This record gives sequence, structure tokens and C-alpha cells, in this order.
Amino acid sequence: MHPMLNIAVRSARAAGKVILRAFEQLDKIEIESKGTNDFVTNVDISAELAIVETIQKSYPNHTIIGEECGLIEGKDSDYQWVIDPLDGTTNFVKGIPHFAVSIALKVKGKLDQAVIYDPIRGELFTASRGKGAQLNGFRIRVKQSKELNGAVLATGFPFKHKQHTNAYLEMFKTLFGKTSDMRRAGSAALDLAYVAAGRVDGYFEIGLKPWDTAAGELMVIEAGGLVTDFVGGHNHNNSGNIVASSPRLAKEILKDIRPHLGEALSK
Ligand code: IPD
Ligand code: CA
Ligand code: CA
Ligand code: CA
Repeated sequence: MHPMLNIAVRSARAAGKVILRAFEQLDKIEIESKGTNDFVTNVDISAELAIVETIQKSYPNHTIIGEECGLIEGKDSDYQWVIDPLDGTTNFVKGIPHFAVSIALKVKGKLDQAVIYDPIRGELFTASRGKGAQLNGFRIRVKQSKELNGAVLATGFPFKHKQHTNAYLEMFKTLFGKTSDMRRAGSAALDLAYVAAGRVDGYFEIGLKPWDTAAGELMVIEAGGLVTDFVGGHNHNNSGNIVASSPRLAKEILKDIRPHLGEALSK
């Protein structure tokens, strides 16, 4: 295993421990609001601190961008860690056992290493640039689906961006009509990991942040999939609008959502 992936795994497991311990005593967690329907708990923050501490022990000069602590500028900006300590906070606070730790390392702006860890199931998804993607050490691959007929798509509702509800529902309606079924499980990182593992055929969501998708993007690409924005470009890191699936299925999804995008989502 690449030494930096090893540190990413160690960090994810440290955060996972913090999260699991707290999940057993949910009545003790402190919840604060960051914005509309956007919550953060003391556990998100403790988990992020555990990750930052583990990374900095080995790589004190690296730069870190975390959802909760923001940018920690290191002397070495070539190495940039992008972390979501707890992806699926809404599930976590409601006691729904589906959330993950997501950690990616970018080297000179390119995704290089990725970990998504589901502490409830003990599932560790990993990827290294050019080396494929694994689940608990076993190779995983994106389902090479060719059409929506028979496919199951994961998605996320735009609960933090309700101005997009109508456009989203139109996209949903069109895709739902053609697919076998849809899933809204509540963790973007796991949605992407599940695409990588071939558990779902594809995934789309509006308005994500870089820490939601960084690790999942490398995972999907290394597992033989495609990650794009809503118009087939690579602006998803800025727009937060993302489609992930086999290259063939992505074409179908993009074709079907195009009429509903409007100007705001055409990026
Ligand atoms: C959220 C989850 C959710 C997605 C949201 C994300 P958070 O992340 O990934 O599935 O629908 O858009 O913001 O805030 O729980 O880390
Ligand atoms: Ca959050
Ligand atoms: Ca997230
Ligand atoms: Ca989070």
C-alpha cells in the first residue's frame, strides 16, 4: 500500500472510532446549525481533529482542507488533503446507521489517493491513482451498464439547495421513469463508493462540495467509471453537480437531464 494511503486509512479508522463511540450515546451529542438544513455536531468536529492530527503526525507540511476546520495551509501546497470527517450527518443525528469518513489526497492538483470508510459495516473503500479501487482489499469495478432500463441509480435530494427542487424533481421524474429503482441513502461519499463497487449503476446529485466527492471521484474513475458535471464537462468540483456511472450510462443520464437543467444547473 502507498505510504500516504496508509496514513489516510489510519486517519479514517481513527475518525471512525470517534464516530462509533458517539453513535452509541446519541442523546449526548451537541447539534448546531450552519445554515438551512445544514447541521454540524461536536462529533463531526472531533472526527475531523482526529484525522488532522493523524495526517500531521506523518506529514506536518501538507495542506489540509476539511469541511469543518476549513483550510489549514501547510508549507507544502503540492500535497493537499481533502476531508469530510462525517459524510451523512443527518443520518448520524437521526440514528440511521449509514454514514462515512471520506479522505482524499491531491498531489499537484490531481487526485492521488482516496479512502471512504463506513465504520458501521467495517467497509473500507480505497483507491490509488493508476492502481484501481478496492473494498477491504478486494478489487472493485463499476458496472458497465449500457442503458437505464434495469439500472438502479443512487441520488441525493437538494435539501440544502431547495431553490433547485423543481428542476431536481423533473430530472428525477425522467430518470425514474426509465430505471428499475432509485436510492436516496444519505451519504454522497458512500453513493460514489457504491457506484465504484457496482452496487448501484449510477449516481447524480446537485450542489455538493469538494469534500463530499473528492475521494469518491478517484474511486469511481479507478474502478472504470466516469465522473462528470451535468453537461459532460469537468466542472463538478466548482458547480457541485455530479453524475457518476459507466461511460455509456453517463451519456444516457446526461441526455435525459439536459432538458430540465435551465441556466443555473448547466454546469
Ligand atoms: C451531505 C451528504 C448527503 C448529500 C448532501 C451532503 P454531510 O454531506 O453527503 O448525502 O445529499 O448534499 O452535503 O453534510 O452530511 O457531510
Ligand atoms: Ca455537513
Ligand atoms: Ca459531506
Ligand atoms: Ca460532513
